[in-house]
Amino acid sequence: MLRGTRVGLRARHAEDIPVLRTELYDDAVNGSRAEGRPWRPTTPGQESAPLVVDDTNQGIVPFSVVELDGDTLVGTANLWGIDNHSRSAHIGLGLLPSCRGQGYGSDVVAVLCHYAFVVRGLHRVQIETLADNHAMLAAAERNGFVREGVLRSSAWVLGEFLDEVVLGLLAEDWKAQG
Ligand SMILES: CC(C)(COP(=O)(O)OP(=O)(O)OC[C@H]1O[C@@H](n2cnc3c(N)ncnc32)[C@H](O)[C@@H]1OP(=O)(O)O)[C@@H](O)C(=O)NCCC(=O)NCCS
Repeated sequence: MLRGTRVGLRARHAEDIPVLRTELYDDAVNGSRAEGRPWRPTTPGQESAPLVVDDTNQGIVPFSVVELDGDTLVGTANLWGIDNHSRSAHIGLGLLPSCRGQGYGSDVVAVLCHYAFVVRGLHRVQIETLADNHAMLAAAERNGFVREGVLRSSAWVLGEFLDEVVLGLLAEDWKAQG
């Protein structure tokens, strides 16, 4: 378990999967905005379904997010696209709808940065998010991420092309924040 101020990041447990699937992936709007690929329904129990962890894939580290106070499941978080040559990776997260807007997202980003920079010794962490995802942009910037560019009309989302923002954080800048 990795501990933030209010959330913990732990391994994915089998009982998390139906909750995360129902709350995050069965919602076509959330799924379309978060995934970068066409939403499609998934069959419960299939090993390849989203959220089922493949421990042989070294390129991604999936976590479940829980409240430190009570151990209630609040979402999912990933370090993905891990590049051990350039020592970089991406982060992604999704909170259950009832758990958004309470400061958990900023705390999850902070814990993912600790994992990336301290546990994994990475040099750079990147986030891509839709330009209208103000909560994600704010959670990233609160943790020191810098907007590095806009990918114009790069994401097809529910009938329209949307811009994506690329944000980056370097280890030395993260450490300098104290
Ligand atoms: C994006 C997400 C992870 C952010 O987590 P969160 O817990 O809701 O965000 P927080 O409560 O930590 O708020 C972070 C900042 O965003 C602001 N914020 C929160 N909700 C907001 C909203 N709906 N609109 C604008 N700003 C918002 C907060 O005021 C805070 O700003 P501050 O740092 O200046 O105080 C969460 O909303 C979520 O899971 N959304 C759906 C999935 C998703 O979009 N994932 C990211 C894909 S890249």
